[in-house]
Amino acid sequence: MGIITARESAVRSYCRAWPAVFDRAAGSWLYDEAGRAYLDFFAGAGALNYGHNNPVLKEALLGYLAGDRVIHSLDMYTVAKREFLAAFGELILQPRQLDYRVQFPGPGGANAVEAALKLARKVTGRTEVISFTGAFHGMTLGALSVTGSPFHRGGAGVPLTHATPMPFDHTLGGPAPDFRWLERLLASRGGGPDKPAAAIVETVQGEGGIRVARPEWLRGLADLCQRHGILLIVDDVQMGCGRTGPFFSFEAAGLRPDIVCLSKSIGGYGLPLALTLIRPDLDIWEPGEHNGTFRGVNPAFVTGTATLRTYWRDDALQRSTLAKGQRAAAALAALAQSIPGTPIEPRGRGLVHCLAFEDGELAGKVSAAAFERGLLVETAGPQGEAVKLLPPLTITDAELGQGLELLADAVRSVC
Ligand SMILES: Cc1ncc(COP(=O)(O)O)c(C=O)c1O
Repeated sequence: MGIITARESAVRSYCRAWPAVFDRAAGSWLYDEAGRAYLDFFAGAGALNYGHNNPVLKEALLGYLAGDRVIHSLDMYTVAKREFLAAFGELILQPRQLDYRVQFPGPGGANAVEAALKLARKVTGRTEVISFTGAFHGMTLGALSVTGSPFHRGGAGVPLTHATPMPFDHTLGGPAPDFRWLERLLASRGGGPDKPAAAIVETVQGEGGIRVARPEWLRGLADLCQRHGILLIVDDVQMGCGRTGPFFSFEAAGLRPDIVCLSKSIGGYGLPLALTLIRPDLDIWEPGEHNGTFRGVNPAFVTGTATLRTYWRDDALQRSTLAKGQRAAAALAALAQSIPGTPIEPRGRGLVHCLAFEDGELAGKVSAAAFERGLLVETAGPQGEAVKLLPPLTITDAELGQGLELLADAVRSVC
């Protein structure tokens, strides 16, 4: 790894926690160059919901490449894009009675967020955006302005303006979805904030440490937005594409957001692709007003289409995700209880869970001990206090059990 540490920028981070040189990958496993296997409970931070080199998706990709089909096309018409949009409409939007225009911004999640924020401001003619404590929306300046982490915000080098953070669910500890404070501010004629263009929210904060908003809190927010003419943006970059069970993470709360951000697993194979979904009457972009060279990468359309046609033609994946999630939740609750003297809070929804420790030091040690045992788990949260479990949704029951045992062993060795 010497050439990498010598040449790659100091900004690199995951490789510092996992000092191995990875080479091959299949399903829920990564292999280093010496052939050592690691069970992957990280899944590309949510970009690999269907595992590494999923054989069905690989076959579709190899066939496309072998046929000299179009790889790069900006936003020209291509067969691959047509097939992706047809599958997305038929299998995702129509069954849920959702109607969205699809914008392909740049390929990453932050690109989807930037487009959403710009459009919300353009539509409303307002500048302010409501964000939430603990939120993570990406590293570009717009996305960073609605991101909570002081560490990441500090990297901006310029003031991050026109965003107002509000307490995320559970911050105030109340039993009800209490938006009275915000409601009063918005109604205030005595110096409340300017009326916002939008509110941007994650239903489960991933990088924020697996903070799960209650459905009633989300509905309270949606209701407030509707009454005040504020656009609701759900950032489903990490929690969408089935991570919480249903395709969209907001389905369980019955929301119908005005704008939705998707990326990570929408291309299915770990190839870069992002979508900003727009309520049709809000799609007031001028042609080319928001553009980019890498929008709609055709190989990602191909694997994305194969993913939708394989995993979203029925509810089998959703059911298995929820079942695996319940098993993980039960195991984590039992593990936390079995270690008296160390306060550990298990949290999660669907197949995204964490063990939240009192500080980042303990969580970091657990992650390191898991790595020694051949399990990849990252830490998240404001102090890195949450050991985060994000296995591929396609993980087998045996692999899930194996990973949970390795984690339990790692926790016991540290606590
Ligand atoms: C909720 C959410 N939004 C946006 C992003 C940014 O995505 P990207 O890193 O692809 O720019 C992330 C990344 O983790 C995320 O979790």
